[in-house]
Amino acid sequence: MRKPIIAGNWKMHKTVSEAVELCEALDRSVQDLDIEVVVCPPFTALSAVCALNMGKVKIGAQNVSIADAGAYTGEISPLMLVDTCCSYVIIGHSERRQHFGETDAVVNEKIHLALRHGLQPIVCIGESLDQRRAGKTEAVVVSQAKAAFADVAREQVPEIVIAYEPIWAIGTGETASAEDANQVIGTIRKTIAKIYDQEAADQIRIQYGGSVKPGNIQELMAQPEIDGALVGGASLDLKGFTAIVHYQKQQ
Ligand code: PGA
Repeated sequence: MRKPIIAGNWKMHKTVSEAVELCEALDRSVQDLDIEVVVCPPFTALSAVCALNMGKVKIGAQNVSIADAGAYTGEISPLMLVDTCCSYVIIGHSERRQHFGETDAVVNEKIHLALRHGLQPIVCIGESLDQRRAGKTEAVVVSQAKAAFADVAREQVPEIVIAYEPIWAIGTGETASAEDANQVIGTIRKTIAKIYDQEAADQIRIQYGGSVKPGNIQELMAQPEIDGALVGGASLDLKGFTAIVHYQKQQ
């Protein structure tokens, strides 16, 4: 049985005090939940939210460097993330691939480095609108998944979370239909089965991301292949994100 995981990706939003305020209130509201709740604040807020010693909410970073230490001006190493209290790190978000030139090879490198330091990667993959229109969705996600998992050992697979995020659905208000997201995620899971084995595929958690809101989370989570969500815009608002993580209450 895969434990659902809902993560908030705050992107480049929130000051330290705003981050602390949201995390305090969120942690209070999720104590009784039997799912994993993660928030990924900007780097500047990590120490402050870690100092809250939250009981339930886990912390993730939005990116990690390709090296442990050294002359990499402006970068943050996995050791520094562990030194705060990060247990997760988002790797290969489409915004990083698009604006910061992150290739599949870089994504793979970062996954290896994160795992080596005990950070659980949330690996983002997904197709663009043009790729979807050209009928290439499945081919794109299969190739991204294969590249991401290159040389990753079988026993590390359960440490990794995949986020299927169709790029055209990110921040646009457009969501893949729950059935459609389920189908693509099923394809990603089959890819993991092919690379490793069925047990690995059954263990790995795969989220959907792209305009997830209180109004569509329940339908998404009802799909058998969807194990959680990576939430951008709607995770910035306490009321909205609380409603999302409490999706079972809607039943
Ligand atoms: P969104 O972003 O929920 O605002 O669409 C999702 C993401 O980029 O992870």
